Amino acid sequence: MRRPYIVGNWKMHGTADALTTLADIAACADSVAKQVDVGIAPPATLLHRAVSSVGGSALALGGQDCHSEQHGAFTGDMSAEMLRDAGAEFVIIGHSERRSGHRETNADVRAKAAAAMAVGLGCILCIGEPLDVREAGEAEDYLAGQLAASLPNSFTPDMLTIAYEPIWAIGTGHRAGRDDIVAVHRLIRTVLTGAGGDGAAQRVLYGGSVNASNAADLFAADEIDGALVGGASLKAESFNAIIRAAAP
Ligand code: PGA
Repeated sequence: MRRPYIVGNWKMHGTADALTTLADIAACADSVAKQVDVGIAPPATLLHRAVSSVGGSALALGGQDCHSEQHGAFTGDMSAEMLRDAGAEFVIIGHSERRSGHRETNADVRAKAAAAMAVGLGCILCIGEPLDVREAGEAEDYLAGQLAASLPNSFTPDMLTIAYEPIWAIGTGHRAGRDDIVAVHRLIRTVLTGAGGDGAAQRVLYGGSVNASNAADLFAADEIDGALVGGASLKAESFNAIIRAAAP
């Protein structure tokens, strides 16, 4: 009964002229609204204009990160409450580019996820292993530990989505194999259930070099509830093809 969920992460891409792309994506989201949930996390500078331009559509808008506090002396940061105020419905937390580039720990991720959900923002919590861990055959232990330490104390299927994004697959053109993804998604559900949640009801997305040509293969597996898409979400043509591939 899990609804497919396709989310685009625009990272540090997009100025006002990207609003036309957003309008094209919103039209596609409207056309599959009965079957698929669709979201885009534009840069925060575009969020308010994005809400003005596609606000009434089925396309949800989100943030790419938030602080663990709702306000305070944190120059350059932005709180979950502020994202919500700007019209965001969800926020991506713990992306590997935040974990590595900004040294975010599992404890930081856990606190940010709790802060997001406290103000009613859906949270897309990312986990993923580096290549050396995968090659050493230690990916599952690593991921189980990372997820358990990043999870907030309480969570529900409507507020929390997990995105499995192997670091070596992000932006490289090397999508992980479907069987490996399915194995990790099963593990994620077990960890969620062990942490007091309902693993079978939680949505688990895959991210890492998903594109218009490889999305249908991914969504053929019941365990894979959708995708977190970087590069291929920047153009409406490729992102809309991924959205349509998720419509049963
Ligand atoms: P990619 O990025 O689709 O460009 O590999 C995925 C992500 O970072 O979420």
